[in-house]
Amino acid sequence: MENTLTLALSKGRIFKETLPLLKAAGIEPLDDPETSRKLILDTNHADVKLIIVRASDVPTYVEYGGADIGVAGKDVLLEHPHAELYEPVDLKIACCKLMTAGKANEQQKSGRLKVATKFVESTRRFYAEKGQQVDIIKLYGSMELAPLVGLADRIVDVVDTGNTLRANGLVPMEHIADISSRLVVNKASMKMKHARIQTFIEQVREAVRVQNND
Ligand code: ATP
Ligand code: PRP
Repeated sequence: MENTLTLALSKGRIFKETLPLLKAAGIEPLDDPETSRKLILDTNHADVKLIIVRASDVPTYVEYGGADIGVAGKDVLLEHPHAELYEPVDLKIACCKLMTAGKANEQQKSGRLKVATKFVESTRRFYAEKGQQVDIIKLYGSMELAPLVGLADRIVDVVDTGNTLRANGLVPMEHIADISSRLVVNKASMKMKHARIQTFIEQVREAVRVQNND
């Protein structure tokens, strides 16, 4: 789409928290993804479209040019260490921590730990850097369940208030990374639509500064 600027966003938290930043850049969607079934949303600019994708698919859409720009959590980006993307702005939204967690009163275990997570790449790297051999079990959600039913000894998940862990009798253990959402940009788009994307980046940067009183 030669003259169109396409932004990939996920529904829910990222969409909600990105809206004020887009508004500061003069972009307002004409539909609400929570109520509309449309996956391509028009905006108040005929040549700016929003596409609605799964949070974990944002890097893929942007890397391969399905969108020029996207908003993705750092947790998701860490799972794509070789993605050819620019990551020009920390939006300081959807902030949380990537952590290990386990049962509160767990007995010491001999042998390898079993770690359940959807963040396989970050988990692999974290334990490799500690020199600890573990068995990683890939899940797609509800990680908190795994230690409760004996599927795993640990989980690696994002933690904000800690309420989800607490509600399931788990405690946060080791800190792996601070997480926030980032603006990501397709490399070819950055060349072909440079002035436009650069202006957008500057507007969003300024909006982040204002929002955080920096
Ligand atoms: P998918 O649909 O691809 O499985 P998801 O359900 O994890 O993704 P969201 O829950 O909308 O998607 O989370 C989007 C991003 O928000 C995450 O990648 C993470 O960076 C951040 N995030 C997740 N949970 C929290 C939380 N409880 N508090 C703050 N930020 C969070
Ligand atoms: C996320 C994440 C944790 C929870 C952590 O789930 O998967 O379970 O938030 O937040 P807390 O520490 O404040 O409890 P979310 O609420 O986004 O639900 P979903 O990803 O399962 O849709």
